[in-house]
Amino acid sequence: MKRRTLMALSIAGAIGLAVLMTFPAMTVTNRDPQKGNGHPQGSIPPGLEQEIQRVEADVDRVEQQALAQWQALPITSSTRMQQARILGKLLLFDENLSVNRNEACSFCHMPETDFTGPIPLLNRTTVSYPGSVRSRFGHRKPQTYTYAPFYPVLQYNKTQQDFYGGNFWDLRATGYKLQNPAAEQALDPPVDPNEMGMPDTACVVHRLSQSQYRSLFETVWGVQAFVIKWPSNVAAVCSSPGPASARDPFPVHLSKEDRGRVDSTYDQFGQSIALYEASPEVSPFTSKFDYALAHTDQQVLSPDELSGWNLFRGKAICNTCHLDGTASSAKQTNPSLLRPAEAASVAPLFTDFTSANLGLPKNPAVPYYDENKPDKYGYAPNPRGLSFIDKGVGDFLRSPGNPNSDWKQYADSFDGKFQTSTLRNVDKRPRPDFVKAYMHNGYLKSLKQVVHFYNTRDVLPKCKGADDLGQKISCWPAPEVAANVDQTVGRLGLTDKEEDQIVAFLTTLTDGYVPPAAK
Ligand code: HEC
Ligand code: HEC
Repeated sequence: MKRRTLMALSIAGAIGLAVLMTFPAMTVTNRDPQKGNGHPQGSIPPGLEQEIQRVEADVDRVEQQALAQWQALPITSSTRMQQARILGKLLLFDENLSVNRNEACSFCHMPETDFTGPIPLLNRTTVSYPGSVRSRFGHRKPQTYTYAPFYPVLQYNKTQQDFYGGNFWDLRATGYKLQNPAAEQALDPPVDPNEMGMPDTACVVHRLSQSQYRSLFETVWGVQAFVIKWPSNVAAVCSSPGPASARDPFPVHLSKEDRGRVDSTYDQFGQSIALYEASPEVSPFTSKFDYALAHTDQQVLSPDELSGWNLFRGKAICNTCHLDGTASSAKQTNPSLLRPAEAASVAPLFTDFTSANLGLPKNPAVPYYDENKPDKYGYAPNPRGLSFIDKGVGDFLRSPGNPNSDWKQYADSFDGKFQTSTLRNVDKRPRPDFVKAYMHNGYLKSLKQVVHFYNTRDVLPKCKGADDLGQKISCWPAPEVAANVDQTVGRLGLTDKEEDQIVAFLTTLTDGYVPPAAK
């Protein structure tokens, strides 16, 4: 039943479960002088079709590479780990696992951007990516695969009065059942109507049973994986986009035993993906910063990067949430005294696994706000339209997707909170002018804007309407969710140069650093 619940949650999230407040009507354009767009809200930017084709071709290329890697691998008991990882990679780049066979997981998560959105046109505008049904868009920024499996199983710590762990911006992939949030996360997109669009998890298992790498799946997980008696209409049912109707929530009709087998095989699909995401090919800990930690006798960081790190763990208090392995509390130390040698020996993940409401404004450029009418399949992603408010962890806790009824009582105090992202690879991009979106709704478009927001949120005046040209420079809009806004940031007193130094430090967190001597 869990998958059904996860799916119900996506739908419930889409319907905007907790919209108790109404939001004043907003103007229909979101012109940002820094990002230079002026697309009417909800409209699909011209040129998207070519970009979609480019990414589809890139996805296919990686899938072919992974098939070749598998074929070149001797299948022996001493390559079990490599086999399992290649399987995970094959799953992540397989377009056949979506309803229209056009959207792999990685369509929204490509390696050149640290496994987040690969289309700058969308990062600048819609932030969210089209699903397998191309007219449907979700409402959040794609997160990254990188380091996702390092988040612990979601738990509530009564002493700290805080949640730790979980995947997704709202932590809803708890990991309670598979004891791995990233494995449970992977079970959601295939049946999310705005993403891969399958009407039933059994459809994913059926497509796997027809895949080129079926025998690899059986090698890794056992030959029972696909011993399932499929109904004769399975292919037809699985080519019709979800969500399934409430009258027939599992449209692939199976015996109870076969449904149980589908569930296990589907869990193994998720586990294979998490296993690959955790492997050094995706999560390698090879940034310049890691190199500096390991070579404290060398001057690895440039003077600006080092000043940026000292601000990060000092005056700017970034490391109170994005833990950098520095043993001492940033607030108590004199940053100028800190040297890399004092950093902890473990590789820090730049997150404390909690969540916070940073007071970000709504991003009306996300097309989701326009998706309030049923599409040609009768599905309306967001019936609430513009009045939808994304309450993040709070919405998850009060939704049917929350697997622990004890947690419901905390929902109000988690409204507006979102996962504290890892900062590893935040600057990874294929070229310097490639625009990435930041934060759960992609409202910020550069690392400079991010740092400027933390620095000046409570110092600059509120903007005058959505068209205020000073937006993101000399004014900020009001928060989307006024409750629980974090008060430790917003007034950091950083100079423009100090903001730039923090940005310089963030660029040292990109994996794949090659030290000068080794070049
Ligand atoms: C249509 C675009 C799209 C597709 C396809 C997609 N994702 Fe995502 N992914 C997202 C978005 C958006 C989020 C954040 C969603 C949220 O928080 O509600 C996300 C979040 C994640 C996260 C969470 C990382 C973290 O730190 O918590 C992981 C891991 C991930 N996706 C992996 C996958 C896998 C595996 C698949 C395929 C089974 C997949 N994605 C398919 C857009 C996509
Ligand atoms: C109170 C905890 C907290 C502090 C302090 C903090 N952050 Fe964050 N950070 C978060 C949370 C939570 C998010 C995600 C928020 C969201 O999307 O709504 C985030 C997101 C980010 C992102 C975007 C990541 C992405 O993939 O979109 C960057 C970059 C970032 N923080 C950098 C910094 C820097 C630099 C500082 C110091 C100036 C800092 N943070 C201070 C909690 C914090």
